[in-house]
Amino acid sequence: MKFRERLTCSSPLYPHSCLSQFLKTKASSSSYTKSYFLQVDHHYDPENLSLLRFNSLWEDAFRHDSLLVFSTGRTLPMYKKLRKERPMLTPDVIITSVGTEIAYGKSIVTDDTWVDIMNHKWDRGIVEEETSKFPELTIQRECDQRPNKVSFFIDKSKAQEVTKELYQRLEKRGLEIKIIFSGGKALDVLPKGGGKGQALAYLLNKLKTEGKLPVNTLVCGDSGNDTELFTIPNVYGVMVSNSQEELLEWYEENAKDNAKIIHASERCVGGILEAIGHFKLGPNLSPRDVYGLLECKEDNVNPGREVIKFFLFYERWRRGEADNCEAYIACLKASCHPAGVFVHPSGAEKSLRDTIDELEKYHGDKKDKKFRVWTDQVLATQTTPGTWMVKLDKWEQTGNERKCCRTTVKFTSKENGGYVWENVQQTWSEEAEIKDDSNWII
Ligand code: GLC
Repeated sequence: MKFRERLTCSSPLYPHSCLSQFLKTKASSSSYTKSYFLQVDHHYDPENLSLLRFNSLWEDAFRHDSLLVFSTGRTLPMYKKLRKERPMLTPDVIITSVGTEIAYGKSIVTDDTWVDIMNHKWDRGIVEEETSKFPELTIQRECDQRPNKVSFFIDKSKAQEVTKELYQRLEKRGLEIKIIFSGGKALDVLPKGGGKGQALAYLLNKLKTEGKLPVNTLVCGDSGNDTELFTIPNVYGVMVSNSQEELLEWYEENAKDNAKIIHASERCVGGILEAIGHFKLGPNLSPRDVYGLLECKEDNVNPGREVIKFFLFYERWRRGEADNCEAYIACLKASCHPAGVFVHPSGAEKSLRDTIDELEKYHGDKKDKKFRVWTDQVLATQTTPGTWMVKLDKWEQTGNERKCCRTTVKFTSKENGGYVWENVQQTWSEEAEIKDDSNWII
């Protein structure tokens, strides 16, 4: 039986700053939780380079044994919208609406037990009635409201007083609620049992019951609604450099002496990579930052890495950045079985070696076109001794146009180390918005 070793929870997709995630890894005998958090930087990283660095690190070093959890203030529809705009990996668990909704896996299956917990001593109608009596509260957009999350904007100077008064009134009406102030202006009213911290505690407990408690958990956050994450016992935590005042104030008052929590010097997802290194939770050098990556080495121990490395090369090649790659290409070609086949998403079959040859003419064709490639959900399985199947989603983006293919690569291992590419098969992913065969190469 396999156990997840690490859990990474990132604070979500706060509109102006970030997306946070949990990262988990699996444990073999003892369980080990690690959580990381990833953020989308809307201000300083329009090309999402930090996110892309995190993505390839995650897929290379953590995906196989860790859990990635996104925990966001956003509602599920708003998270899905962001996912279409940014190169975000598929999390194992998605906690949305400030910890009032939990769902699992690629198909986003709702946790119904959590729904029941959220409805305990909660009545949205009463919350609406009582909050309407406060002129200081301005209701947020309809798309930011959920059954167990009533969200407002408020002037910072009024937040404390209104929170106190509202809390008492709702208590008198028989409700058990929680009020959270975030981002210097947002005020969320939630069920008392909700919130990101409670959702994480629930998740950890569920994993424990299933015998899969991660060995390490890293939580990441940037705003007031992330505060609770840092109060969960035994978790490592990182407040990214661009954290909001309310989170930093909370840290000064409550957690300054906790060596398991750091204030990173890097922004957003860069802060997560920094924390992974600081707490020694695993490798934190992204394959994107490894310049020697394209050297022709046969010492790779992992067929998943072969694929990640290939698609990094592919991105650089088409961006015109990979200039001296003759050795890598020759090595790649030599690693393709002479009878190896590539099944294009159109259904057309080609020789693998011919496909590599054809790539030569695409060098630099995507230069200055904001072309990026990333891999998601890379899973390598040994099917028989010496035979591996690597399954993944391969995404590519040119400007705002994105495509995604479900990709399967079969490898056999060479006697003297390294792997032989036996065949590659691609089909359009359900998530792909554009399924245009004509200019898809591999
Ligand atoms: C996100 C949500 C918003 C909420 C805020 C703080 O921005 O979209 O509704 O108030 O997080 O939790």
